[in-house]
Amino acid sequence: MNFNEAIKIADRIYWVGMYLENDPFQCHPYLIENGDASVLVDPGSMLEFDAVVKKINHISDMSKIKYIILHHQDPDLAASVPAMEKLIDREDLRIITHSRMVPLIKHYLIRSDYYEIDRYAHRLQEDGLDLQFVTTPYCHSPGAFVTYALPTKTLFSGDIFGGIGESWDFYASDDYFERARQFHAEYMPSRDIFNYALKKIEVLDMEIIAPQHGSIIKKAQITPLIEQMKALECGLYLEDGYRNELLLSLSESQRHTLYLNEGVYWDYEKRKLFWHDTEIQLKPKEKIVLTLLASKVNTPVSSIDIFNHLYEDQPNRDFSSDAITSLIKRIRQKIPQDTIRSAYGIGYILEAK
Ligand SMILES: [Fe+2]
Ligand SMILES: [Fe+2]
Repeated sequence: MNFNEAIKIADRIYWVGMYLENDPFQCHPYLIENGDASVLVDPGSMLEFDAVVKKINHISDMSKIKYIILHHQDPDLAASVPAMEKLIDREDLRIITHSRMVPLIKHYLIRSDYYEIDRYAHRLQEDGLDLQFVTTPYCHSPGAFVTYALPTKTLFSGDIFGGIGESWDFYASDDYFERARQFHAEYMPSRDIFNYALKKIEVLDMEIIAPQHGSIIKKAQITPLIEQMKALECGLYLEDGYRNELLLSLSESQRHTLYLNEGVYWDYEKRKLFWHDTEIQLKPKEKIVLTLLASKVNTPVSSIDIFNHLYEDQPNRDFSSDAITSLIKRIRQKIPQDTIRSAYGIGYILEAK
């Protein structure tokens, strides 16, 4: 394989990178050759600039590039864009990225307009192109995404599926996970966040994955690799010190919070009910009852106990079950359905997840 030339990886798709000697962190730009509306994917830094331009001009011409995809803001994929822009010299050149990336990317002094994927339904269907953009938030950047190109079913995956290592293979071997392990463990924030991204990716019908680092992954290796990635412990959970502190702070915040469903929770400390960050207003009596029920979550509380708790300053007041029934009815209208269950002949149970 001659790395001094562009290498075709799919119909009209080319690797246009260069081999960086003694660098475990190989960075790969790709070109989708599409006549006057060609696409440059993650063009790289100034380290590779001359070689990348030479390869593009060999297949096509810099002036034919109409789109540059930046999968996130890092210099190893975006630093050469201002120099690329000068050579491309087109008014209609568009930088395809996520709106969360623009406030950072603009610091490279990029002049072109942006095609913000989240403003265009995560798709580009123009000039005969069909590109689908799949967001992979926090993997490893807040606005990170991957690009799925039809008709070749090529996934340009940015940093995801990237590998690092002393030696470099153009195409991934069957033990590629071992080369990708360290990079993902260090760069992906946590296993659950990374799994969210992997689940969005695995439903795509992929022929080939072209990552920004490491090796190109062929179809037969894709599913086994994703399965191995899913089990990988990453990021903040890797180091014992961080991991223990994180788990401690999570359990502390859970102790203060009683989730009634995914969005509605009771804050024990504030004695307030919330829907996400918005407080659900309770009348004083409703608050007293909910405080009592929340203190005995998943345990029945009798109507008499509720009544006595409500009127503890009026010991001679006659018990009224109707008053409790109507109060519970009012509370039920403010919380998720079936959260307060009637225990026949006993009282009421606040059931939490
Ligand atoms: Fe990165
Ligand atoms: Fe990268």
